This record gives sequence, C-alpha cells and structure tokens, in this order.
Amino acid sequence: MQTARFKVRGARDQALNARLRKLTAVCGLAAASVLAGCRQDMQDQPKFVPQRGTDFYADGRSARPQVENTVARGQLHEDTYFYTGLIDGKEGDVMPFPVTMEVLQRGQERYNVYCTPCHSRVGNGAGMIVQRGYRPAGNFHMARLMVAPLGHFFTVMTNGYGAMPDYAAPLTPQDRWAIVAYIKALQLSQNAKPSDAPAGAQVESLSSIAESEGMPASFADEWTLPPTAVFGTPNNQDNGIPALDVTVPTGAKTK
Ligand code: HEC
Repeated sequence: MQTARFKVRGARDQALNARLRKLTAVCGLAAASVLAGCRQDMQDQPKFVPQRGTDFYADGRSARPQVENTVARGQLHEDTYFYTGLIDGKEGDVMPFPVTMEVLQRGQERYNVYCTPCHSRVGNGAGMIVQRGYRPAGNFHMARLMVAPLGHFFTVMTNGYGAMPDYAAPLTPQDRWAIVAYIKALQLSQNAKPSDAPAGAQVESLSSIAESEGMPASFADEWTLPPTAVFGTPNNQDNGIPALDVTVPTGAKTK
C-alpha cells in the first residue's frame, strides 16, 4: 500500500516536470527570437569599423585624414628650442624658462631617480650600475662638460649618447630642462671653494660631516671605478664620441 502511494505521486511529478520543461523551452525560444531581433538591429546600424573601408566617403576610407594645416591641441611645439635644445641646428646655451628654486628641486628629484644609477649623486659618472660593469657614464665635472652649452645636456637626454639610452619617454621636456638646471648646480657645488660661500656662511668639510654622522671620514672621498667597468667599444672601433675623462683601472676589461 505504502509503495503504491509513492508510485502514484512519482508518476504525477513526472507529468508535471514534463509540462514545466515544455513551458521553459517555449519561453526560451520566444526570448531568444526577441533578443536576436534586437541584436540584429544594433549589428546592422550604420557605423565605421576601424581599419575597414566605407562607401560613405568618396575616397572609400572610414578613417578621415587630418584637415590640412591644422594642429591638434597640445601638438603645436612652436617653441622648437624648448623641444629640441637646438637653435638653427646648434646646441643653445640658454634656459627656455626662468630657473626658480622649485625648478631646481624638481630637477634634483628627477635626476636622483633617472640619472644617479649611472652618473651617481655627485655626477662623477661612477654610479652603482657602472660599478657593476656598465660603461663609465659621463663625468659632469670634466673640463669639456663644464663648458658644454645647456642644450648639450638636453639633447643627450632627448636622443641618448653612445652607450647611454635616451630619456625622452620617461622625462617631459620640462623635466629634462629642470635636470639641465640641476646639473649646472651640481657642477657649481662640486667645484666650489669655501670663498664661494656668502660671507658669514658656515663652511664645513664633507669629511667632518661624514664623521659626525658616524661614518669614516674617507666616506666623503672621491671613489674610483672598479676593474669590472667596461671601457671602449666592441672591437675597439671608434664611435665618434669624445673620449671619457676617466682613469682606466689596472686590470680593467677593454672590449
Ligand atoms: C644606464 C646608465 C645611464 C643612465 C641612467 C644615464 N646615463 Fe648619461 N651616460 C651614460 C654613459 C655610459 C655615458 C657615456 C656614453 C659613452 O661613452 O658611450 C653617458 C654620458 C652622459 C653625458 C655626457 C655626454 C658627453 O658629451 O660626453 C651626459 C651629459 C649625460 N650622460 C647625462 C645624463 C642624464 C642627465 C641622465 C638622466 C636623465 C643620464 N645621463 C642617465 C649612461 C647613463
């Protein structure tokens, strides 16, 4: 008796399930046809597909050429000196904007981020990457660079120089000029005499500052390049770049 009752209920459930399934299928079909209709409308609406032709314009191109003699916002670059550092093809020797303390601080910050790995914080060209074997970077305190025009530093950053990559992508022209200003400050600071300080200013030697910070006095000395630094070019070919002002340590690798 018990089993029979269960069987009956089972049969009724099956019938109900079958009816429900049919209903879902019909509803699904209806929804699909309605949605497909919508999609068709949007798919077929007039539009340009990138890189694909069109019969809308006479020249058959969907991408329109720039209107002649117009310049997009921010692309004028009228001040060519600001963007190239060159005046009539020659490196200029003026800043394209006034140097304020803010500009110098920005230059110092950017210099410390992008240039110190190779040129070191004092600009002697013996940064950590060079100490680990990279070609010695320019020493900003050598005679030739002490008198180099400002535009030279700008073009070196903009185009790269010998083994040095260019920094046009990570540094805006504004930042490159700020670094130029800071390099000039570095050159002054590294070659300053106590008499250059304003009268009454307290002048302390770097070695005594090092000692007061708990470091050996020699910490403030010049440091030399290790023999692992790379000198010369592959096959010792001339790369047309003026010789670097560095003393080659004995046992250094010359390629
Ligand atoms: C990856 C290492 C590296 C970095 C980072 C680097 N430089 Fe250099 N730089 C060099 C090397 C190497 C040279 C020497 C080029 C050569 O002899 O092939 C050089 C040379 C120079 C020179 C001397 C050019 C001359 O006339 O002799 C200047 C100026 C200079 N770099 C500026 C900069 C500035 C400013 C930055 C930061 C924006 C910078 N460099 C970042 C490696 C670097």
